[in-house]
Formats: sequence, C-alpha cells, structure tokens
Amino acid sequence: MKDIFKGNLIRLSAMDSEEIGKAMSWQGRDSELMRLMDTGPTRLHSAKAASKFFEKIIEDDSPASHFFSIRALDDNRLLGDINIDVINNWGSRDAFVGIGIYKREDWGRGYGTEAMQLILQFGFIELNLRRITLSVFEYNPRAIRSYEKCGFQVEGRIRGRIIKDNKRWDVLFMGILREEWKEMYQ
Ligand SMILES: CC(C)(COP(=O)(O)OP(=O)(O)OC[C@H]1O[C@@H](n2cnc3c(N)ncnc32)[C@H](O)[C@@H]1OP(=O)(O)O)[C@@H](O)C(=O)NCCC(=O)NCCS
Repeated sequence: MKDIFKGNLIRLSAMDSEEIGKAMSWQGRDSELMRLMDTGPTRLHSAKAASKFFEKIIEDDSPASHFFSIRALDDNRLLGDINIDVINNWGSRDAFVGIGIYKREDWGRGYGTEAMQLILQFGFIELNLRRITLSVFEYNPRAIRSYEKCGFQVEGRIRGRIIKDNKRWDVLFMGILREEWKEMYQ
C-alpha cells in the first residue's frame, strides 16, 4: 500500500506546537496572508501564544479534527498547515477543510494543491467521508483555482460578507462529493 501522507512535492507530517507557533507568529506579520485566511481584522500573536494554541489542539486530540504540517520533500522545511474537521460523523459524513502555505515565495508552486489532494485522499479513504467542504474569499483567485484543480465546485456564496478596502466581497463555499473524487482519482 502506498504512503497516503506523501505526494511528489510535499508530505503531511505531525504538528510540532513550538515549530508551528514560531511559523504562525511570522504568519501573523504578513497581513496579506492573514486576509486570505481570516475574515476578521488582522491580529498579531506571539510565538508563545500561537504555540500554546496548537499545544491545546494536540492535547485535546479530538477524533473529529485532524491537523497536519505540510513539509517540502526536497529539504523537509515547513511550508504550511492543513486541517480537516469531521462535522457530521454519524449522519451525512461531511467534513470541512482549511489550508495555508505561509510564505509568498511558496505560493503558486503546487505545494498547496498537492496537500489538498492528499487530504482529500485521507478524507475519502481513511475517514470514509461522503463530502468535503471549504470556504474561500472572492478576492483569492489563486485558492479558488487550486481548489478547482482538486475537483471542488462552487456550491454557494454569502454575498458581501467581508468588507476590505471599502468594498464588500463574497464568501464562496466549495464542495466535492465522494463519487466526484473517485471519478477523478481512482
Ligand atoms: C491557496 C493555496 C493553498 C494554493 O496552493 P498553491 O500550491 O499555491 O496552488 P497551485 O500553485 O497549485 O495553483 C495555483 C493556481 O492559481 C492560479 N493563479 C494564481 N494567481 C491567480 C490569479 N490572480 N488569478 C487566477 N488564477 C491565479 C495559478 O496559475 C495556478 O493555476 P494553474 O495551475 O491552472 O496555472 C496557497 O497558495 C496558499 O496557501 N496561499 C496563501 C493562503 C491561502 O490563500 N489559503 C487559502 C485560504 S481559503
């Protein structure tokens, strides 16, 4: 059986709260990245506070939440993180995903798309999910394109949900069904 956590460019690894805390505190300094990830005003957190936040997630070890670091296969450096949360385990078997590649120079190089493809595989094969959903902001065409490449389709939008630069922007919801994923990848 192949290693489901390994792609051609990246692998998914366990999170180290201290390492990710340091990276997240760097992330907090890049206001563009924060705007792509969060609807609220950009906030800055210390490495210590961010580490504590992740330490708690690891400690809680909820069976519904799966957090991974994304690491480059060539030099093992930390590129970002990805998480999948099962939101309706016994009924419809749905999950929500979120992803962030931290540094601008690592965007547009296929790392995020491959990490998402691995998490879809994890979700549909290991977690036996029926559908996977995400939300993305209208002003993030790179992410929308990346998700389309993975097989997600736009399913709906909350119009004018975000105000940035004196303009209202939509929040888009995108989803992929198990059958669609199977058709693409198996
Ligand atoms: C979004 C993200 C996960 C995508 O991963 P990635 O590895 O950078 O994506 P890829 O390089 O595989 O693909 C990006 C695609 O967007 C396209 N793209 C980039 N900028 C674009 C733009 N302004 N308009 C339209 N398409 C654009 C690229 O051409 C590429 O498509 P192609 O392969 O058909 O040419 C990653 O860039 C990231 O984490 N960004 C910062 C945080 C973020 O936005 N998180 C998502 C929040 S919902």
